[in-house]
This record gives sequence, structure tokens and C-alpha cells, in this order.
Amino acid sequence: MELVHTIPEVRRRVAAARQKGKRVGFVPTMGYLHEGHLRLIDRCRERADYCVVSVFVNPTQFGPGEDYERYPRDLERDRRLLKERGVDLVFAPDVAEMYPEEPFIRFQIEKLADHLCGPRRPGHFSGVLLVVAKLFHIVQPDVAVFGQKDLQQLLLIRRMVRDLNFPLEIVAGPTVREPDGLAMSSRNAYLSPEERRQATVLYRSLQRAKELVQEGERSARNVREAMRAMIESTPGARIDYIEIVDLEELQPVERLEGRVAIALAVHVGPARLIDNLVLEIRGDDVREIPAI
Ligand code: PAJ
Repeated sequence: MELVHTIPEVRRRVAAARQKGKRVGFVPTMGYLHEGHLRLIDRCRERADYCVVSVFVNPTQFGPGEDYERYPRDLERDRRLLKERGVDLVFAPDVAEMYPEEPFIRFQIEKLADHLCGPRRPGHFSGVLLVVAKLFHIVQPDVAVFGQKDLQQLLLIRRMVRDLNFPLEIVAGPTVREPDGLAMSSRNAYLSPEERRQATVLYRSLQRAKELVQEGERSARNVREAMRAMIESTPGARIDYIEIVDLEELQPVERLEGRVAIALAVHVGPARLIDNLVLEIRGDDVREIPAI
């Protein structure tokens, strides 16, 4: 495994791999890696012969007052984990390498950022698309893997690839959870032991929602209210949003049918945590879709 910090070094190594006829896979991350990231890398290695991982805490996707400064970083540990997982190339640029000057071009997003995290984090997804588009141009992968944990991000990137004709395939990886259901996240590091226990309410409320739907409930309002009641009775948890949306345009639905996502964001102590569940509902048949 090689670790490089500059764009020309990445380009050289990827070009050499491609010259040997290798299919190039890519997993972008902000580091402080956990098993959720590492399973995406496993997927990447199943689908490609040469696996590139980026580690870059991207300043353009953090809003003022968000956690850019205190976002956890540990490149030495990340490097060890990536090596163990069989990654070929790690790209860990500094901010000046990715943004030598203030970028003047930004993405304007229609529809897909109108709900969920979009309105709560203005500019966030525009910053995500900016850095992911830059990384795609730098690495030029054949396939890139993203987690369903960040469902809105995954769908936005798929759509960017379609709308802008990026020549690559986007593959989704299922949300990886702790044994008690909490979705793994680098931000879980912010939680005290007590907050860590409270944080399981996100997963528990999603499981409750799924049960209700399996019992025949189809009203989005009723499902959301049941989740709200559960979370509000958890000390330390403060709801940012609970929404049920379709998977084409991420717009709120009134009734649960076809493919829908139940998604929420909850503040627990100093952390803002997100989670979601994708269901496919056909008549009485309700199934969870772990990777869309
Ligand atoms: P980061 O939060 O580090 O996540 C990197 C990738 O890991 C994303 O595709 C995310 O969805 C996935 N991931 C995180 N937690 C996961 C979990 N518990 N299970 C499965 N996948 C998980 O997402 C970002 O970084 C950034 O926005 C990025 C795309 C790198 C652009 O800066």
C-alpha cells in the first residue's frame, strides 16, 4: 500500500494501474475510520482490481459553527487499518492541495436537497458534491462506493454522476451498526458513555417504525409521531427531523408505499447523529432494502 499527498502522485499511480488493465475502485472518506468505512472498502475490492481510498476532512461541506475544527483525525491509525484491509493507494491531501484558491464554482441542487439534511445544513451538499467531483476527476475511478448511512449524499452523488456524465458506477454499501444497533460514525467519538446509550434511540425508533409498517400502518404521520414520542421520552436526545420520503426525489410522502426512506437526525449531547431505513412496500409485503 502506498500513501501519497499530492494530486500528481495519485494520477501517476492510477495511470500505471490502468496501463496494466486494472479496474480502478474508489472509496472517499473523511478518515477516523471504522468498520462502516472498511466494509465499503471490501465492496470496492470485490468490484475492482486497484482500490484507492481518500482521507480528507473537506472544509467546504462544513457550515459555520459546525464541527470542522474538532472533527476527529488520526491518519496513522487510518493508514494501519487501510493496509490491513488490502487497499492499494491512500490519498491524504492537505487543504491547500485540494483548494489552492477559493473555488468560485459551486453546485446548485434542485429538489434532492429540499428536505432531510438539506435545509438544516445549508451549503453542505454543495460542498460534498464539489469535493467528490474533484476527487472523481483526480482519481478517475471505474467504480466508487458510498454508504447508505448517508442516504441523501448517496442519491445526490448518483444523480450528479448521471447529470454530468461521469464515466463511473456508484455502488451502495449497507449501514454497518454496533451490536446495539447504533450506526457507526466517526462522530460517535463525541459521545460520553451515557450519551452513547441514549444514542441507540435512533435505531430503536426506526425498528419501531418498521414494526408498525409490518403491522399494516401506512400513514407517514402516524409512523413519524410514534418515532417522535419514543425519542422525546429519551433524556438527552433532541430531534432535528424525522421524515419519510420517496427515493426518486426525496420528497415527503403521506402514505408508505413503493420504495420509501424513513430518515432522522437527532442531537445527542454534542453530536448530531443521522440514520435511516429504506423499505419496499408492495401490498402487505414489507421488506428492508439494505443497499439501493
Ligand atoms: P465519511 O463520513 O467519512 O464517510 C465516508 C463513507 O463511509 C460515506 O460513503 C459514508 O456513507 C460511509 N459510511 C459512514 N458510516 C457508515 C456506516 N456506519 N455504514 C456504512 N457506510 C458508512 O461521507 C463522507 O465522509 C464525506 O461526505 C465524503 C463523501 C468523503 C466527502 O467529503
